[in-house]
Amino acid sequence: MRATALIVGLSLLTACGPKPPGEAAAPPPPEATPAEKQALLAALPAPYNTGDLKNGEMRFALCRSCHTIAPGGANMTGPNLYGVFGRKAGTHPDFNYSQVVKAAGFTWDAEHLDKWLADPRGFMPGTKMSFAGLRDEKDRVDLIAYLKVETGYAP
Ligand code: HEC
Repeated sequence: MRATALIVGLSLLTACGPKPPGEAAAPPPPEATPAEKQALLAALPAPYNTGDLKNGEMRFALCRSCHTIAPGGANMTGPNLYGVFGRKAGTHPDFNYSQVVKAAGFTWDAEHLDKWLADPRGFMPGTKMSFAGLRDEKDRVDLIAYLKVETGYAP
């Protein structure tokens, strides 16, 4: 049984040709080069233009268990965050938001995100995002800069 499965698996692999690891089935998103990311960062409004993308990426580790950020990424415990800037709160298709986020009525920008990330439940009591909050202001600046650069933000 095992040998058969292995052979079938191998022939399937051969049939599909070599695939770079980690590539999604969807059309590959145009991944910005590090230089392009630095240019995007520099074009952000202050204070985000001085954000530390490395630290932002490290802070995003706090979000990764619940959120994807790649274009077309899956909704997990939380919605996919690609395109979140400029998107009305609570409107990612196929995600079942809490009433309070659905009814929020605002569009995500750095200012709203800063309040949300500092204290999600204080900002929107009744949210089902169970995240305690990121209290350090500089960490939030870095994380928001990282999110802007990684989620297709267009100034
Ligand atoms: C334990 C899971 C979890 C963690 C950790 C988490 N989130 Fe969430 N997030 C959610 C859920 C669930 C929602 C939907 C909230 C609701 O409907 O009340 C959400 C909603 C959001 C939204 C609103 C999206 C929209 O479409 O309106 C943003 C923005 C967001 N999260 C960013 C983050 C960031 C950035 C982090 C890391 C600092 C983070 N979240 C950490 C679960 C999580």
